[in-house]
Order: sequence, then structure tokens, then C-alpha cells
Amino acid sequence: MRKNIVAGNWKMNKSLQEGIELAKGLNEALAGETQNCDVVICTPYIHLASVTPLVDAAKIGVGAENCANKESGAYTGEISASMIASTGAKYVILGHSERRAYYHETAELLAEKVKLALANGLTPIFCIGEVLEEREAEKQNEVVYAQLAGSLFDLSVEDFSKIILAYEPVWAIGTGKTASAAQAQEIHSYIRSVVADKFGKEVAENTSILYGGSCKASNAKELFSNLDVDGGLIGGAALKVADFKGIIDAFNK
Ligand code: PGA
Repeated sequence: MRKNIVAGNWKMNKSLQEGIELAKGLNEALAGETQNCDVVICTPYIHLASVTPLVDAAKIGVGAENCANKESGAYTGEISASMIASTGAKYVILGHSERRAYYHETAELLAEKVKLALANGLTPIFCIGEVLEEREAEKQNEVVYAQLAGSLFDLSVEDFSKIILAYEPVWAIGTGKTASAAQAQEIHSYIRSVVADKFGKEVAENTSILYGGSCKASNAKELFSNLDVDGGLIGGAALKVADFKGIIDAFNK
């Protein structure tokens, strides 16, 4: 069966010291509790080596927010998938809409990153989602199909099975607007059908598809109660222990 997952995306927030405090706080908040979902925190690169040994690996997975599309070498300022793995981190967010929009990451480039992440034992959390104009033109299915096909359709069934998907409508990210539960279910179910057509029904049933975009404690339960919504990728509400814990608890109550 597929896993329920609540993953935090800290984006470009928190000094090293603040990040350590946040990770410690979350670790304490989850200690002694039974969780009904996997919990992941994706932090800026510089936090990874400090945060990974601080948290209970049985309860909290750690990930990066990006990785390079090259293995190693003369790529000043880049961080490779193998460097991320060497910190003990297990996950990497790839294809976030902010990377696509502000850093011009293309489907081809993302396909390279996904392959390197997998080759280094990292689990990609691969983001897809449409912008407002595309939603208004009812093109959301076409958009997510192209994003999946462009970066993931070359993978073997075995490799695809290691991927977590995150549907994040760009119009909902950081805006306070959330997709309705019905909108989320509709497109998550479509995404699962695309995966089933390409990689088979069993793989599709086992793929976790997270929702992202202004997800918070007050709406998480309603979103996660949908059949095809297997958790969330959380930005703003991942920056405070109580807010993030409130979302994790959506699976408990
Ligand atoms: P948000 O961000 O929860 O702040 O909307 C989600 C994301 O970008 O992953």
C-alpha cells in the first residue's frame, strides 16, 4: 500500500541555528507519539549535515530542495545528489514550480536530476502543477501530463516506483488560496490514471501523490481525506513546529 506522507519544504528560510532549533523542536514534538504518516523535512543544503543526525531517523526523513543535473566536476556553486546523500539525507524535491519559473528548469533538465537522485539512492519528491491561466483555460490535465511525460516517462518501472509525486497548483502556493478538496481529488485521480497507463495499475496504486499549496492544519484533514491525496508538501506551515505538527496530526484524528 502507498504511504501517507507529510513533507515540509523550508525553501530559503532559516539560518543554520534557526533550522537546527526547528528540527529539534519537531523531533521533540514527535517523540513518543505514533504517527500515521511518514514525516519529511526538506531543508536548505547547508542545514542537511547538521539536521540529519539530530532527528530520529525512524520518525523524520530529511531531504534537500534541489540537486545538480551533473554528477560532479567544474560546476561552481552546484550541489550534487551524491553530496546530498553523503549527509544522510534521503529525499530531494525536484521540479518545484519556483525552480521551474525562476531558474528556468526544463523537463529535460529535471529528467537528468531525477536520474542522478535515483542513482544516488535519494527519493525524489517530484512536483507538478499548473499556473492560474492554465487552470482558467481548463488545461491543468494537459499541463501535468506534459510535466510527467517530459521528465519521468523514460524511467523504468522499477525506478518510477521510487518516486513521490506532489501536485502543487502554482496559484495556491503561498497565496492562501487552496484547491478545494474536490479539485484536489479530481486531478490527483487523473494523475494516478496517467501513472497507471504508463507504468501499470499496481505501480499507480502504490505511488504517493501529495498535495501542496497553502495546506495548513485547518484544511489538511479535508484535503487528505480524499482517496487519491496521500499527504502534503508544506511550505509556509512547515516553518513552525506547532503548524507542521497540526498537519501531521490530520492523519491521526
Ligand atoms: P505553501 O508552499 O505551503 O507555502 O503554499 C507549498 C510549496 O511550495 O511546496
